[in-house]
Amino acid sequence: MFSLRSILGFAALFLLGQLVAAQSTSLASIPTSQLTQIFNFGTNPNNVGMFVYKPAKVATKPALIVASHFCTGSAQQYFAGSKFASLAETHGYLLLFPSSPHPGTCWDVSSDATLKHNGGSDSLGIVSAVRFAIANWGVDPNRVFAVGTSSGAMMTNVLAGAYPDVFKAGIVDSGVPFDCFPTTGQAVDTFPSQCAQGQLILTGQQWAQRVFNAFPGFTGQRPKIQIWHGTADTTLFPPNFFEQIKQWTTVFGLPSTPISNTSEPFLPNGYSNATFGPQFQAILAQGVGHTVPLFEQQYLQFLGIA
Ligand SMILES: *[C@@H]1O[C@H](CO)[C@@H](O)[C@H](O)[C@H]1NC(C)=O
Ligand SMILES: *[C@@H]1O[C@H](CO)[C@@H](O)[C@H](O)[C@H]1NC(C)=O
Repeated sequence: MFSLRSILGFAALFLLGQLVAAQSTSLASIPTSQLTQIFNFGTNPNNVGMFVYKPAKVATKPALIVASHFCTGSAQQYFAGSKFASLAETHGYLLLFPSSPHPGTCWDVSSDATLKHNGGSDSLGIVSAVRFAIANWGVDPNRVFAVGTSSGAMMTNVLAGAYPDVFKAGIVDSGVPFDCFPTTGQAVDTFPSQCAQGQLILTGQQWAQRVFNAFPGFTGQRPKIQIWHGTADTTLFPPNFFEQIKQWTTVFGLPSTPISNTSEPFLPNGYSNATFGPQFQAILAQGVGHTVPLFEQQYLQFLGIA
C-alpha cells in the first residue's frame, strides 16, 4: 500500500511536472494551423483566456498580432470570423487571440488598473502573453501589434495608450477613445452611456492627458494608430470617431485636420481615408453601422507586414 506521504510526494511531483510543462510552452510544442490555448504565461489577474495561432511556416523573428474580440464574442469567434489566421499562413506572423473572462465578454477598458501601465486587469493579462511570446518564441519586439473590433477596438486603444513600449501599432475598428467610459466599479463596458452615445466631448488636450496619465514616465515613440468607424453606428455613435481623432492627433502632436482625405481604390464607395501624419489615419465609412467589416489586407499594409 502507498502511504499518505508517498501519495503526497507523487502529487507534488506531478504538479511540478505540469508546471514545468506549462511554463516551457515552446514555439515548437505549439501545434500548427490551429487555435491553441496557452496557460501560465505570466501575471494574469483576471484570468483572461489566451489562444495562439501558429502558421505552418513561421517567419524568422516573426511579427505578433494581438486580435481582440467584440462583446458577446470569443477568441474562437474572432479567429473564425476573420482572415487574420489565413493571412498568417502567407506572411508567417504569430497571432494571439485573448478571450474575455467577464459575463457578456466585454473587455475591462475603464478600470484604473486596466488603464495604468502594469496596473493589472485584462490589459496586463494580455501584455503578459505578449511578453511571454517575445521572451520564449523569438517574436520581434519591434513588430508587436494590436487589432480589435468594438470592445476589442477599445482594448486596442487601451493597449496602445497604457503599453506604448510594448505595441508598435494599433488598428481600432469601431471603438471609443482611450479612457472614455466612467469607472463605475464595473469591470466592463457599460451600455448605454454618455461615452457610447458620443456625448462625451472633450478637448484634444483633455483626451491626450488621459493617455499621458496611463504611463507618466514614458518618453519613447508611441504606436501608430489607424481607426475605422461607420457614420451609421448606433452602438458607438460617430462622435467617438472624431473624439479619437482629437485624442490621438494631440498625443502625436499632429495637426487636427488631415493632410489628405481621399477615397481609395481598394475600399468600398463612401469610405474616406484621412491621413494626419505617418502615425495616424482615420477611415470613415459612409452609411456603415456597427461594426465596420474587417479589411485585414489593408491592416497588414499599415502594420508593415504586407
Ligand atoms: C473626410 O472626408 C469625408 C467626406 O468626403 C468626410 O465625411 C469626413 O468627415 C472626412 N474625414 C475627416 C477625418 O475629416
Ligand atoms: C490612407 O492614405 C495613406 C496616405 O496616402 C496611405 O498610406 C494608406 O495606405 C491609406 N490607408 C488606407 C486604409 O487606405
